[in-house]
Amino acid sequence: MKKILIAISGASGFELGLRAYEKLPPNVEKYLVTTPNAPIVAQKEGYHFQGHEIWAGPASGSFGIDGMLVAPCSMNTLAKIAAGIGDNLPTRAARVMVKERRPLVLAPRELPLDPIALEAMLKLAHLGVFIAPPILAYYSAPKSLEEMEDFIIGKWFDLLGIEHDLYRRWQ
Ligand SMILES: Cc1cc2nc3c(=O)[nH]c(=O)nc-3n(C[C@H](O)[C@H](O)[C@H](O)COP(=O)(O)O)c2cc1C
Repeated sequence: MKKILIAISGASGFELGLRAYEKLPPNVEKYLVTTPNAPIVAQKEGYHFQGHEIWAGPASGSFGIDGMLVAPCSMNTLAKIAAGIGDNLPTRAARVMVKERRPLVLAPRELPLDPIALEAMLKLAHLGVFIAPPILAYYSAPKSLEEMEDFIIGKWFDLLGIEHDLYRRWQ
């Protein structure tokens, strides 16, 4: 069974990361972690929870995570991952993915993007990390925020090789 890790950082869009976790199919073993700062931002968006380490195993390469998604990914967490810093569970787990050359998808959320963030993204993209921000798509004709989110989550699952029916593919 594939082990998939979803990490939520302190960027806006807690719901998007949580929904990605919830939408993972039953045939994957799923784990959810957050940065210590994520609950502060999540609170502003109406979600209340404590603690940031739901599972500690992903900090180790031997735990065997097959794919990881950081969504939403703050510029802070993005910069740390690009610099090789692993000072909390999400950044440490991302570091493991880079060193073990396993699929890592980052969903940076900031507007506008500055050269520091863009350079970090370019560096990581060259290392094989997928840079997949939550970008709207209108051709899927979404009728609600949930449908819009499903499309984005579906694109992330595509990158991680997870089967889903979250959006209708272009025929
Ligand atoms: C309400 C609120 C919204 C925020 N939204 C973003 C955001 O969308 N993107 C971002 O990069 N940082 C955002 N921040 C700033 C981060 O939370 C801050 O840089 C924090 O240090 C990130 O920590 P982390 O990367 O360890 O989660 C936001 C902060 C607050 C309070």
